[in-house]
Amino acid sequence: MKLSASMEKALNEQYVKELYSAYLYLSMSKDMKREGFTGYASWLKIQHDEELEHAFKISDYIEDREGVTEFGAIDAVTQHFDCPCQVSEAALKHEEFISDSIRSLFKQARAEGDLETEVFLQWYITEQVEEEANAHEIVDGFKATEDDKAAFYSFDQSLKGRKE
Ligand SMILES: [Fe+2]
Ligand SMILES: [Fe+2]
Repeated sequence: MKLSASMEKALNEQYVKELYSAYLYLSMSKDMKREGFTGYASWLKIQHDEELEHAFKISDYIEDREGVTEFGAIDAVTQHFDCPCQVSEAALKHEEFISDSIRSLFKQARAEGDLETEVFLQWYITEQVEEEANAHEIVDGFKATEDDKAAFYSFDQSLKGRKE
């Protein structure tokens, strides 16, 4: 069944938000690389790749439901960071924003009686729980070690363990 025009528009907006997420994480990755935090830089680059997958999944779904993927404007990323603590806090804040956005989409699907989109979005709701938990873990890791240079460095390097 074809998507409603309003659901198609909302999904296309989420598509752009996921692309923006990728853009944001890539910029954070570059900042961390520049500052010598190569562990977190690598983690953030993998997160960038994952955000692209989130976006592609949405456009595939829009098309499966006879909609058209729209290429709205992606905001510029203008803020630069020099400390991984600030990056991790900003990443957590961003994920909370994305979770809110997914919740609104889900509520819209429910209000419209669009069962297929509800089911589709369940994956994103579960994913956001994981995203927020991961972001919290990194905030805590940098916070717990910030007064000990060696421990701070070794926490950064531990983030290289992320493979996908
Ligand atoms: Fe995402
Ligand atoms: Fe994830």
